[in-house]
Amino acid sequence: MSKTYWVETYGCQMNLSDSELMEGVLASSGYAQVSAPEDADVILVNTCAIREHAEQRVLGRVAELNRVKRERPGTLIGVCGCMAQRLGTQLIERAEHVDMVIGPDAYRSLPQLIDQAARDGGGVVDVELKDSENYEGLELRRKSQVSAWIPIQRGCDYRCTFCIVPFTRGPEKNREPDAVLREIEEQAAEGITEFTLLGQTVNSYRYGDWDFPRLLRAVARLPGVRRVRFTSPHPNDLTRGLVEVMAEEDAVCPQLHLPVQSGSDRVLKRMARRYTRAEYMAKVGMLRDAIPHIALGTDIIVGFPGEDETDFEATLDLVRSVRYDDAFTFRYSAREGTPSTRMDQDWVVPDHVAQGRLERLIALVREIAAEKNLAEVGKVAGVLVEKRARRGDLLQARTDTYKVVLIPGPEDWIGRYMRVALTGTSGATFTGFPVEP
Ligand code: 5AD
Repeated sequence: MSKTYWVETYGCQMNLSDSELMEGVLASSGYAQVSAPEDADVILVNTCAIREHAEQRVLGRVAELNRVKRERPGTLIGVCGCMAQRLGTQLIERAEHVDMVIGPDAYRSLPQLIDQAARDGGGVVDVELKDSENYEGLELRRKSQVSAWIPIQRGCDYRCTFCIVPFTRGPEKNREPDAVLREIEEQAAEGITEFTLLGQTVNSYRYGDWDFPRLLRAVARLPGVRRVRFTSPHPNDLTRGLVEVMAEEDAVCPQLHLPVQSGSDRVLKRMARRYTRAEYMAKVGMLRDAIPHIALGTDIIVGFPGEDETDFEATLDLVRSVRYDDAFTFRYSAREGTPSTRMDQDWVVPDHVAQGRLERLIALVREIAAEKNLAEVGKVAGVLVEKRARRGDLLQARTDTYKVVLIPGPEDWIGRYMRVALTGTSGATFTGFPVEP
């Protein structure tokens, strides 16, 4: 009888992609996926360490999964990804039902680590960051037949003072351009038409003579590639050359998630973001000059140490002037070992103040997004049908600007490009129906 696995994923797109890789590694060594953790010999939880809250959720979930293990002795539980990397053996000390702690650079050895845990009754930890691990030659088990994540870079060489990623993912490593292009060609030959290039600071990509604009252009021109996106870029690596490629290549979608973090120069400086508000705004101007209909998203942290009301007002003001289509907003969370935790204790923003700011920011972001989306209602948009929508019998489609449109239609439309009339908006997503089925 073959061995079985269940994988759960928390966190960013890189984690979603890593889970496809973990599942691929397991499938290649004879494991079969099951539809519930109760049926699995091995349960893996791929985790995020970016904020305390993300880790708390995982610990809660792992405790829940321990019930499964009690009812099915011999089941192995592994915690993988950034939280595993951050906590290492501490995780087993804190949650003794965890059998394996596996960092991102150890996924290639998953089958061996599982065998070792089965033999030794748990206690397996592999959180070594390996210079030599290039993630090549591993078969991914892709979730979507329509759209594929393509990691082109791992790790990060920026040192934003709030961020744990350089500690959990190590220094920046870029993939060989040939390997990236070959992988995309293969996927395109299978019928996938949309590709999202992934990296922690994806546009700082560099490999020999290749920089990110060159890679992006080459990807956009591969046969069968109809849509290309990339995430997340760092504003400092958003060059004129990159904007030109985005504007010139039809396959590159008019959409960008460009994390700003704060609208205050004082805060940006303490975050070590290495740009000023004016420089960020100039990049936004450059994008909009070249691609007037581009949709922009961002990440914003409130309550960073030392942020006062004036700083926060500057963030609101920036949001008002950029008018983002969408923004992910976070309360600052102190991550052990990051430089921001060593700042003056007087700078700590009290919880209720940070919470109040977060709520004001969310209200503003939603108001602007809803205004912008309302202005689209009544228009016709080109969409790619992605999958069955979570609720009801609608299909989920996406515009090139990355907005969700729910449409009625049969399942065999999944993977198709069509024109839809936008009939309504919830503020964040649209409803619509096809105008040329
Ligand atoms: N606290 C709050 N938010 C954070 N982010 C990264 N680190 C922290 C932290 N310590 C946010 C940033 C980043 C996004 C992925 O998560 O906005 O862009």
